[in-house]
Amino acid sequence: MTQDELKAQVGQAALHYVPAGEVVGVGTGSTVNHFITALGAMKDRIAGAVSSSVASTVRLQALGIRVFDANEVGEISVYIDGADEIDPRGFMIKGGGAALTREKIVAAQCRRFVCIADESKRVEVLGRYPVPVEVIAMATQRLVRQFAAMGGSARLRLQGVQPLVTDNGQCILDVSGLSISDPAGFETEVNQWPGVVTVGVFAHQKASVCLLGTADGVRTIVY
Ligand code: A5P
Repeated sequence: MTQDELKAQVGQAALHYVPAGEVVGVGTGSTVNHFITALGAMKDRIAGAVSSSVASTVRLQALGIRVFDANEVGEISVYIDGADEIDPRGFMIKGGGAALTREKIVAAQCRRFVCIADESKRVEVLGRYPVPVEVIAMATQRLVRQFAAMGGSARLRLQGVQPLVTDNGQCILDVSGLSISDPAGFETEVNQWPGVVTVGVFAHQKASVCLLGTADGVRTIVY
């Protein structure tokens, strides 16, 4: 199976976690796009969605799924999203699609995080994938130095030749060279550096369940 077929498989499998009649939290990315397509088939059986990005909102609305503002709804049962890496404890790196801040906001509003990922995303220790960090532009160079002091190499993410601008009007640093053995400690520390909006380590909002797409079918891992 191709990686895209594995993503489609877990996108479909995630439908089993969507409670009928409720609002569902929806992430961002190519795996979630498969989930959104599958969700279209049950759009009349859900109340709607809270979305983590403009891109996902556009897809949801194109299928006729109502998208609520996060402030219009209370606690949500389930959040479905992908990951760039997931470790054996359900800690993740996210933000490859630059939507990490809204992803973390929606995840925090949901009781359960169902991670959908192909098996290439499973790692023993987080950090091979560069950690995305959404930052305020004026803090960029100081933050580059702070990451260097902890052994990381931070680069401003570009879109063409210009800095990428997120849905929140901010920019992204991608930090490589880290081996994150204490994801919760790392997230807590980096989060309090002035100028950091969101760090793309999801330890405090870790996965409750991972639906992992493998050549032998979908493997369910509960944390
Ligand atoms: C979006 O900002 C990310 O957090 C995605 O969830 C993550 O990058 C996984 O993306 P794919 O499903 O496209 O691999």
